[in-house]
Amino acid sequence: MIGIIAAMNVEMEALRAHIENPVSETVSGVTFVRGRIGNHEVVTAVCGIGKVFAALCAQTMILRYAPEKVINTGVAGSLSSLLNIGSIAVSSCVVQHDMDTSPLGDPLGLISGINKVELPADKLLCTDLAACAGELGIHTASGPIASGDQFVASAERKTFITDTFGAIACEMEGAAVGQVCYVNSVPFCILRAISDSADGSSHMDYPTFVKMAAEQSVKLMLRYLSK
Ligand code: ADE
Repeated sequence: MIGIIAAMNVEMEALRAHIENPVSETVSGVTFVRGRIGNHEVVTAVCGIGKVFAALCAQTMILRYAPEKVINTGVAGSLSSLLNIGSIAVSSCVVQHDMDTSPLGDPLGLISGINKVELPADKLLCTDLAACAGELGIHTASGPIASGDQFVASAERKTFITDTFGAIACEMEGAAVGQVCYVNSVPFCILRAISDSADGSSHMDYPTFVKMAAEQSVKLMLRYLSK
């Protein structure tokens, strides 16, 4: 079974429309819908926005459904000139750009306990997803994806995230899903279509392009699940 998590309905509803024989269950306020899409059993969830909701959802999904891998799909702000609106960022790893115990001498982004800044995404899963994008003619780039509990909308914050973490895209859930998967030894990939450029124009671009970007990621998921 493949676990698929999106933060918002707009990122999930078109995918859920393809589930055969859907079965729903709500746990801790998160509705899980499982069934078949293409050639795979899937369990899907809309987790809500931010790292806490994402972690709650991922952990619940793993405990109740034991997915063999988890994909976090949806939209993101671009941090790279290689990623325009509608392109797709595929994670090489995840980082938390708002994790900061640096006053204690730690590197920025260090996750205490795990003692790492970057948590690696599953290479094979991410390569397979990028290959599907290639087949569809969707441009992708691979690199670190940065998550934090903030909508990035300034050149200053964008520069901080790229300079500190070398991230190619920013969003608000992927690294939390990644951390939960990491501690549970579940392979994961973050797949995000670009809705804005995470700068002074993002508050205007995001509402204009979020639906189109979400459709790109759904298209790619459907292609992957058809294999
Ligand atoms: N998701 C889409 N665009 C984003 C941005 N600019 N910051 C954080 N999350 C996002």
